[in-house]
Amino acid sequence: MKKSVVTFREAKGHTKLVMLTAYDYSVARIMDANVDALLVGDSLGMVMLGYPDTLSVTMDDMVRHCAAVSRGAQEALVVCDMPYMSCHISPAETVRNAGRLIIEGRAQAVKLEGGADFAADIRALVRASIPVMGHLGLTPQSVNAFGGFRMQGKTKEAAQRLLEDARAVEAAGAFALTLECVPAPLAERITRELAIPVIGIGAGAACDGQVLVWQDMAGLGERQPPRFVKKFGDVGQALRSAVETYAREVRKGDFPSGEYCYSFPDGFDDVVRQLK
Ligand code: KIV
Repeated sequence: MKKSVVTFREAKGHTKLVMLTAYDYSVARIMDANVDALLVGDSLGMVMLGYPDTLSVTMDDMVRHCAAVSRGAQEALVVCDMPYMSCHISPAETVRNAGRLIIEGRAQAVKLEGGADFAADIRALVRASIPVMGHLGLTPQSVNAFGGFRMQGKTKEAAQRLLEDARAVEAAGAFALTLECVPAPLAERITRELAIPVIGIGAGAACDGQVLVWQDMAGLGERQPPRFVKKFGDVGQALRSAVETYAREVRKGDFPSGEYCYSFPDGFDDVVRQLK
């Protein structure tokens, strides 16, 4: 059965929610049955497109990748990130852009980075019947303002601001909140206080669920994943080894052997020989 924001709402306090990023159809098909939600993250800028950060990801990028994931997700809730500058101009523009992710990308919800400053945008989206997942803590679109990808909420003042932002996101109508790279005790406090589920990434075990970038958790890619990532597999090594074997067999002439060739009825060799 297709999961929805209701699945998220009902899980709070009962069941841990499982979310992974996905950016294309084939991977979405593999993950679909084992996760509650697939996040089409703007991290695709880094892991799929090779940018150093998420800032150059466009609405067209997100629409295309989201549509591919949606076609592969028969059960999982599909949440799509609003890329940089798609929700920073005005609530009207935020709704117009999120509308594209719903209509063209077939997302069921959008995620946007930011707290109290984005409450008006969240309210406008909710008014347009677009479910919103908030995102606080290390919000990668603020990499230049933060001076790098750094843990957030480390001082008393910063932790207080984060807690207030979390309250503002919930009050504006978000159905869930992603908390990235914050101290575990702060994430625990926010998770306890909010009535909506909190999905952690580098935010400790007390959150209502977890999300990771799939290339990081499955061991694909060259970038060194952040410290909070556990490597659950080595897809990179499996792929490297498959490519090495393929290249060796092609060079030696071992591939394709007979079983990988189309055979034709007896006499076809003669037909080919007689071709002018
Ligand atoms: O873009 C992304 O993948 C994300 C997750 C890291 C939460 O926002």
